[in-house]
Amino acid sequence: MSDAVQNAPVGRLRRLLTGLGAFLEVLRLVSPMQRFIVVGGLFLSSILELCGMGMIIPLLATASGAREAKGVSLGVEKLFAAVGLPFAAYAILIVVVVGLTLKAVVGILIMKHVTNLVGRISRDFQIRLTKSILEARWGFFISQPLGRLVHATGSEAAAIGECFAIVTTIIAASLTSLLFLTLAALLSWQLLVLIIFITIMMFGSFGRLVKNAREEGKAHRSRMNTHAAQFTDAMIGFKQIRAMGRTDRFALLFERQARMMAKSLKSRVMSGEYAAELQEPVIGILLAFGFFFALHKMALSPTAIMIMSLLLVRTLAVLGPIQRNLTRFYQAFDGYKSLSGLLEQIESHAEETLGTKQPHFERAIKLEGITFGYGQQPVLRNLDLFIPSGKITAISGPSGIGKSTIVDLIVALHQPQSGRVMIDDDELMTLDVRLWRRSVGYVPQEITLFHDTIFNNVALWEEGITADEVEKALKAAGAWDFVTARPDGIMTVVGERGNFLSGGQRQRISIARAILHKPRLLILDEATTGLDPATEAQICERIRDLCRETGLTVMAVSHQPKWREVADLVYRIQDGQARLVSSPQDIAAISEQLAPQELQRA
Ligand SMILES: Nc1ncnc2c1ncn2[C@@H]1O[C@H](COP(=O)(O)OP(=O)(O)OP(=O)(O)O)[C@@H](O)[C@H]1O
Ligand SMILES: [Mg+2]
Repeated sequence: MSDAVQNAPVGRLRRLLTGLGAFLEVLRLVSPMQRFIVVGGLFLSSILELCGMGMIIPLLATASGAREAKGVSLGVEKLFAAVGLPFAAYAILIVVVVGLTLKAVVGILIMKHVTNLVGRISRDFQIRLTKSILEARWGFFISQPLGRLVHATGSEAAAIGECFAIVTTIIAASLTSLLFLTLAALLSWQLLVLIIFITIMMFGSFGRLVKNAREEGKAHRSRMNTHAAQFTDAMIGFKQIRAMGRTDRFALLFERQARMMAKSLKSRVMSGEYAAELQEPVIGILLAFGFFFALHKMALSPTAIMIMSLLLVRTLAVLGPIQRNLTRFYQAFDGYKSLSGLLEQIESHAEETLGTKQPHFERAIKLEGITFGYGQQPVLRNLDLFIPSGKITAISGPSGIGKSTIVDLIVALHQPQSGRVMIDDDELMTLDVRLWRRSVGYVPQEITLFHDTIFNNVALWEEGITADEVEKALKAAGAWDFVTARPDGIMTVVGERGNFLSGGQRQRISIARAILHKPRLLILDEATTGLDPATEAQICERIRDLCRETGLTVMAVSHQPKWREVADLVYRIQDGQARLVSSPQDIAAISEQLAPQELQRA
């Protein structure tokens, strides 16, 4: 005997256990109490169905006097006597009608409850996923394809609850089948054996189709994810693609993706539909064999055959949807597993913010002996940098030398591999990093505005911000004139990523956003590079005035001469180190705040 044949039952058993494990895993998405309510309710509903449909047997037995149904009808007769009902056709019919009505009522209540749970499961998963993305380590976050995250937090997360809904449908059908099986067993053991045999044959013959549907489901999901990631990337960088006439290649790529997705979707749906469509002939053939066997080997009376056919057909009518729902379940479960895998991965890369100290920034930020690199690529080597509070520090240096990296270290988006970042006397990692960041105003090198009004872009939807405060910030950022020139003023919608504004205007909106909250430290990473010299000079001077009036500390990464002019200290980054290039007079002016080693360097 070949290994494959020998291992087939083992493989089936393993699949069955894995399937059961999957069921339990999905059921664990709700609390034990909710599980009890749902399963208990479904059980009650099945009992009520049995009271309805099952009563047909004693009814027929009473009418025909078939001996095979005697046992069951005797039991029911006793039950009727116990509750004081006469064992007559009209009473049985009343029980049938009441049973079926109550079953419908319980069924509706349970489904309503399950629908609520489904919504809650999807909502909780979505919240957990979005929260984990917002709290992920920066280095991990920027390594993730954006479209994949968008797709995951949207439609994929919303579909999670579907697993639970399918499981409840399967449980409901299984419970009903079990009760009908019990009834069958009470009638005749041969009938029970027959039903079990037909069930095994039915599930066995569709195993391959379920497996196919599952594999096609996986392929389809993977293609959808690739498409979401690549399409989002293309849309973000679309202007350049469009302007250089390269849309054709992208159109081809997305057309190919659409074709592949349609193919896997078709295969996925077809595998499921095959199973559904083939079910009836398969059941029919099995039933025909069953009846033939019952007629010739079991010598039953015609009434008994009628009763048994009813029971058989009813049981199989319940088992059929189980088979169909199993295909749907596995596809939804695979989706759930892939998404919960992503969630676990993101959660395992949560930002470690162990520090709890309240940040105090009165004197200076000091970078001491910082070494940092991305992977194998070293960027900063034993770098020292001193940023005195209440002053403007300008940072210059060639492109790619590590200026933005220094900024990222100061706002704790990255941690140094050695050395430390000091805020006054405290190491940054011992501080409550969230609080520290809330005291920072930051204008990044790449500015993206939200597709919303200028007001919301500056206030970032924070409650309690007034139009007056936004106006002040816009004025300080040199943005007020062009904002008021628009018919809708601060209520002007800026378009997707701010595309209705010029580059320089976007920069000024972003500066207004950074200074609105009166930060202690303002970081400007090439924040004025898109501006004409006059506007830039105006902003530099306004920010210098802010420094003098409010004690604001400014760190300006820039190549522009104007920043060097207004700065109290100027550093040049070279070979992974910071060199102070300020004039001796400037250094003397702030020498009280300078650390001795910095003075030596100067
Ligand atoms: N996430 C990253 N992973 C790998 N390498 C990175 C990453 N971010 C930056 N780098 C590399 O680190 C070096 C420093 O980058 P950084 O952005 O700090 O330069 P920069 O001085 O700000 O340059 P620019 O003036 O062009 O903005 C560059 O060589 C860059 O390619
Ligand atoms: Mg940079």
